[in-house]
Amino acid sequence: MNKNIAVIRGDGIGPEIVTQALRVLDKIAELYGHTFTYTNVDMGGCAIDKWGDPLPQEMLDRCKNSDSVLLGAVGGEKWNSVPGNMRPEKGLLRLRAGMGVYSNNRPAKIWPQLSSASPLKQSIVDKGIDFIIVRELIGGIYFGEHKTENVDGTEVSSDVLVYTEDEIERIGRIGFETARKRSKKLCSVEKSNVLDSSRLWKKVMHRLSEEYPDVELSDMLVDNCAMQIVKNPSQFDVIVTENMFGDILSDEASMITGSIGMIPSSSLGATSCGLYEPIHGSAPDIAGMDVANPIGTILSAAMMLRYSFDMTSEADCIENAVSQVLDLGYRCADIMPRNESEALNCRQIGCSECGSLIIEHLRKE
Ligand code: IPM
Ligand code: MG
Repeated sequence: MNKNIAVIRGDGIGPEIVTQALRVLDKIAELYGHTFTYTNVDMGGCAIDKWGDPLPQEMLDRCKNSDSVLLGAVGGEKWNSVPGNMRPEKGLLRLRAGMGVYSNNRPAKIWPQLSSASPLKQSIVDKGIDFIIVRELIGGIYFGEHKTENVDGTEVSSDVLVYTEDEIERIGRIGFETARKRSKKLCSVEKSNVLDSSRLWKKVMHRLSEEYPDVELSDMLVDNCAMQIVKNPSQFDVIVTENMFGDILSDEASMITGSIGMIPSSSLGATSCGLYEPIHGSAPDIAGMDVANPIGTILSAAMMLRYSFDMTSEADCIENAVSQVLDLGYRCADIMPRNESEALNCRQIGCSECGSLIIEHLRKE
């Protein structure tokens, strides 16, 4: 197959982790006889520096005209003082909205090789951690009106949280469909004891559940959910939630699996053109030092093959290679065991060596 992939290297560690993911994709293309062509897209801080805009229209068009988009990370100290609507993150939000990718899928799964990297007690980890957060991505407080004004000599800021029934319904369906393919348990997370938007969320989820009688729907308040994720994560299979709650809970969920550096994500809308990115940030403190963990990005590339290109064996091939590299004890700094005796069985590797090792272990089934 021929596929055109829009590639956003971004800022901080973005370029180095994306380089490794592209090396892996090139090897997959060679093994399976595909042709992947890459179109460079500037977004984030680097686009502000070059074009004075975190996502110029032409760059968005390149993404929309591609078969899918692979993104590293954007943002950094350097652009912290630019106005809100010109920040690097605004480029990312405009990209998500421009591509219409409303459904963000973030798996929280512990790799058995990394179970001791989890900060949770072993007895909790042993019960299993394997759930998915389905996060609504282009609505809610991220996209409501943001305003700061001076009222009678005092600065007043507001951010508006809006959801329409339709927006809730379309992400709700993704939640139910995802649960249907797994253990048929869906947990809808909101704050209906306080927020109107959450009461509407809950109402729509229950109305939808009549169409999915085979899926067991439960409701949970977001504060309780934050607690349950560390207390008893094995109870979860699929969580569906609104944009900001999903942002926060997915960081928490990634931590209990060992490291945020390992977690990929997919974002999809009405078409197969998706946006694939690790869930971590641009980590400017370690940028350019060849120490970042590229696995979150490499697994995001695998998700792209699986969900946008229907290349199941190719995606399995990448995931198996990652697993083998971990089996052999290779660890990037973020997942290196702190405990000395365990560290003896591991070897710390850098970003490019991690990419090379994964490539060496790619085997066509
Ligand atoms: C994420 C990030 C983004 C978000 C930021 C960079 C805007 O935290 O993808 O989780 O809040 O969605
Ligand atoms: Mg986040």
